[in-house]
Amino acid sequence: MVRLTVSSGRPVDLELEMPGDKSIAHRWLLLAATANGASELDNVPAGLDVRSTARFCAALASVVDPSQLDGWASNPPGQGQRDGSTANGPRPRGSTLRIEARGRHGLEVRRESIDCGNSGTTMRLGAGILASASSRATLEGDASLSRRPMERVAVPLRRMGASVATVGGCAPITVEGSSLRGIAHRSVVPSAQVKSAILLAGLTAEGATVVDEPVTTRDHTERALRALGAPVHVVGTSVRVERFQYVGFAGRVPGDVSSAAFVAAAAALTGGTVEISGVGLNPTRTRYLDVLARMGVQTQRIVDRDVLGEPVGTLMVDRTADLAGVTVEGAELPELIDEVPVLAILAASARGDSRFVGAGELRVKESDRLGAIVRMIRGLGGDAAIEGDDLVVAGGDLDGGSFDAAGDHRLAMAAAVAGTATPRPVAIEGAEVADVSFPGFFGTLARLGAGVEG
Ligand code: S3P
Repeated sequence: MVRLTVSSGRPVDLELEMPGDKSIAHRWLLLAATANGASELDNVPAGLDVRSTARFCAALASVVDPSQLDGWASNPPGQGQRDGSTANGPRPRGSTLRIEARGRHGLEVRRESIDCGNSGTTMRLGAGILASASSRATLEGDASLSRRPMERVAVPLRRMGASVATVGGCAPITVEGSSLRGIAHRSVVPSAQVKSAILLAGLTAEGATVVDEPVTTRDHTERALRALGAPVHVVGTSVRVERFQYVGFAGRVPGDVSSAAFVAAAAALTGGTVEISGVGLNPTRTRYLDVLARMGVQTQRIVDRDVLGEPVGTLMVDRTADLAGVTVEGAELPELIDEVPVLAILAASARGDSRFVGAGELRVKESDRLGAIVRMIRGLGGDAAIEGDDLVVAGGDLDGGSFDAAGDHRLAMAAAVAGTATPRPVAIEGAEVADVSFPGFFGTLARLGAGVEG
């Protein structure tokens, strides 16, 4: 386990880029590995979750030459990446991956079991692909992923005709594919992973498949499919898809706007400014910017291109004077669910209390994030509590201290961001877990003016 200590920095004005977006990279890799023909994906982030998806793709017999994907994905965690970046390295560089595949018809899996590591997106979207395969495979995960709920994806895939077995509702899940029929599915819990799994299965099904969600979730799957010519129709929170085989494609994965949240928060705490270019600005991912604005952190966005349906551009974070407490409504949460840990750190450093309404879904993320956020804030000298499904954070000043990330990448990074402005340093146990989504995170924090020592 790596222990890193972050100490407060001076305000700096910085221009930088983020590693490629994890959510988008998962989807484009899966689409490329099931397309008809050759694809070329650029700026594929070296984070461990995306490597898990590459490993999944390499296990598909439709992928003509899996060696590149396999080799890229099997790089051991925390040992430095092939592209030169490390947990504490200065500049993560994405990889270019060329994938040639033979489509989804008659798709088979080369292996009996596939390791999805820590990645819920690999497992849930992977299950959607395997639902129509002519084979049987088991998707396994690490201890954290094996505790997360999988029936929410198994139930609709069974209704479509696949045979899906979970162990007590969790991973490992075994999927035996079948010819599928379209369904109309109403999700109780908003989840882009569940929605995407059903849509990916629906692309091979007889008849239309419709997914309706209580509120909008990230729509990267829909955008990519539409850009590839698939019949995808969106009306409000309802998405409908019909059978369609896409062909190979090319695209540069935009910078990760969720990773940018940690950078924006560090700039806000230190009083610096940042300009992040080449970043994804999909509105289903930028909801946290509205919350930042209500807290007193002003940002500007300029979209300058469209890549496979994704708006991409520059995000600028202005200098912040004072932070104010905020109420985040339940309807906003699904579009900023991954940003709650770092928003909670800002809330603990603000004037006035904050409330995140209806945040219960955080209990089933990479860790029980609801409990872990409270533990993190209290451990750093602040106060927070859980009231029903609400997270309540007391405003004030954090002091510093130590925090065990317990295998959760976003908590490790949120605690590290706190250390950029606390009077005492913040020590993070298990800091290497940041590599799951943001290789080079601690190097970026150092560029933002913080002291980082290992
Ligand atoms: C993701 C969806 C969200 C998010 C996760 C990535 C995705 O999970 O928390 O980090 O890429 O679809 P849920 O779909 O479970 O809400």
